[in-house]
Amino acid sequence: MKHLKSSTANVTIKDVARVAGVSIATVSRILNGSAGVSEELAVRVAEAVDVLEYRPNALARALKERKSRSMGLVIPDIENPFFPALVRGVEDAARQHGYAVILCNSDGDPVEEDRYIQFLFSKQVDGILFIGGAESEGNLDLLAALPIPVVTLDRRSTAVKLSAVVCDNYQGAILAVEHLIKTDRKKIAFIGGPVNSSSAIDRRRGFFDTHNRFGLPVNERLVYTGNYSFDNGYKITKALIESTEAFDAIFAANDMMAVGAIEALIENGIGVPENVAVAGFDDIRMAGWYKPALTTVRQPVYEMGQAAVTMLIKQISGTAEEVCEQKFLPELIVRKSTGC
Ligand code: RIB
Repeated sequence: MKHLKSSTANVTIKDVARVAGVSIATVSRILNGSAGVSEELAVRVAEAVDVLEYRPNALARALKERKSRSMGLVIPDIENPFFPALVRGVEDAARQHGYAVILCNSDGDPVEEDRYIQFLFSKQVDGILFIGGAESEGNLDLLAALPIPVVTLDRRSTAVKLSAVVCDNYQGAILAVEHLIKTDRKKIAFIGGPVNSSSAIDRRRGFFDTHNRFGLPVNERLVYTGNYSFDNGYKITKALIESTEAFDAIFAANDMMAVGAIEALIENGIGVPENVAVAGFDDIRMAGWYKPALTTVRQPVYEMGQAAVTMLIKQISGTAEEVCEQKFLPELIVRKSTGC
């Protein structure tokens, strides 16, 4: 192979990927020792690292003095009111510390996530706050390989070790389902979030475990997977109404799907909560204004945004341990949509 040695200080992970003929995400997976990469690719990357004399910390050394006093924030859905509330907490904390925030909306598209991560890195941000979509695992490898601090927010990675600030989604689901069961709802439909999203996984687990704890069987024909959108909550509830399955409550894994469900129920002459109780998750600003006002699980979203900034800045300044997690407690907010 042509000797491609260049000054190691300038060799980047992109050069290794180019020489090995693989993606940056594959290089970072191999360098991180992640599973699921073929031997042939691993050898190609190792050879490229060797001929280029790539030394990740050579890159980190070249960058360690970077101080752009800016941070990137990648969110998956700017139209969902949950995220602007989170951005507010991030913005206020960043401004207090003298940092600018570059906000990127990926629409949960892994290609867009990759593009924004590369963009933010090229703009020399000092760190990145990242909320992944449902298919972001490959990009989490890429983030873990960057020589700058990264904190995941709201949704954590189960495969890659990255710092995280999250809400206790499992406990939140328990609060919502317990409330429905204790208000005598016995046939509870579940509209879950995207299967690969950690927040959705934990809420689904809380739904099933709470039924088990009360000795209440789950009717699997009342369990659906949604995508956290209003339209999806509406469509799934229409399908529930058209099915022959009886139900007296809906627990939706976020407020946007919950209000979509209420819309579909009322359109079909089904009383909320008289006939069907509805509970959501997030406590977005409109939850209290909706008709009927939505019972939901409040996430301390503003405080989560602030905590993520504090964690990231500590890592930028080198005063925090490598990888840590901060988990916030949810709170049940009971309103008219469950009859109280
Ligand atoms: O509403 C969007 C959902 O996705 C929220 O519940 C938040 O936790 C995120 O995971």
